[in-house]
Amino acid sequence: MLPVIDITSPAAAAPEIARACRETGFFYVTGHGVPASLRAELDARSREFFALPVEEKLRIEMSRGGRAWRGYFPVGGELTSGAPDLKEGLYFGTELPAGHPLPLHGPNLFPPGVPALRDTVLSYMDKLTAVAQDVLRGIALSLGLDAEYFAAGYTASPTVLFRIFHYPPSPPDAPGWGVGEHTDYGLLTLLAQDDNGGLQVHTPSGWLDAPPLPDAFVCNIGDMLERLTGGWYRSTPHRVRNTSGRGRLSFPFFLDPDFTKEVPPLPDRAATDPGGRRRWDGASPLAFEGTYGDYLTAKVAKVFPELHRDVRH
Ligand code: OGA
Ligand code: NI
Repeated sequence: MLPVIDITSPAAAAPEIARACRETGFFYVTGHGVPASLRAELDARSREFFALPVEEKLRIEMSRGGRAWRGYFPVGGELTSGAPDLKEGLYFGTELPAGHPLPLHGPNLFPPGVPALRDTVLSYMDKLTAVAQDVLRGIALSLGLDAEYFAAGYTASPTVLFRIFHYPPSPPDAPGWGVGEHTDYGLLTLLAQDDNGGLQVHTPSGWLDAPPLPDAFVCNIGDMLERLTGGWYRSTPHRVRNTSGRGRLSFPFFLDPDFTKEVPPLPDRAATDPGGRRRWDGASPLAFEGTYGDYLTAKVAKVFPELHRDVRH
């Protein structure tokens, strides 16, 4: 069972966060203050959307979102580990005006068939941004940094991505994964999921189920935190198979570094190897070159080859 960490006080949670980030890179977050009613509303409106006829859903197809990388993709539209995932979904991010100069930035595509989804999604992204910044305060403290280290730097103007996934029911022995094995790209992911289960996490002792806990988010750290800490904290592989016989909904929210900024190694930690020993040259072999945006767009190219052509041009 993954650890359950109450983040009402990030400072009090820091030691447990440190342990969880070292051992599994995954934990449950409680004490986050997100009203259950908002989660219930999001769940209900999302079900309404996925139940629409496919032609209706395709009215906000991702290709219409262009370089902003927003909208709906049908089952098989995303290739997580080189093979099509058994899921359909909606991609959202920070709501910005049309014509934004950066790729992956711009207005969201909201479904005309479920008008209430718009406000629900925008308010959910707002609330989750605050929760993620609090978890990052705990992570900063757990690394011996100032509580505001991230909020004042990498995430002062964060890259925020939010997805809603529907994994259709499939027979237990069906080949293929809902989401193939992968790690997440950025700093932090907060996942809400319905009652159906299916998420698995790769721990040092093998694959572990991460079933839903009432009112908790599953939190995991992404590639950027692994790189920033020189491997001290783990960006852990995970995957999804929906064997419930019912449609499964999940709601991953990602808080990532500023798109335009380089992601320099953290002071001190980055100069240690994954065992915590100081490297002879004090430099990190995992230090990241280029901006977070460069890293993210390269990743997008792999999972959405078609779309990537739009993102580049
Ligand atoms: C992801 C992810 C898990 C899920 O979107 O990166 O791992 O349960 N999602 O949908
Ligand atoms: Ni993931």
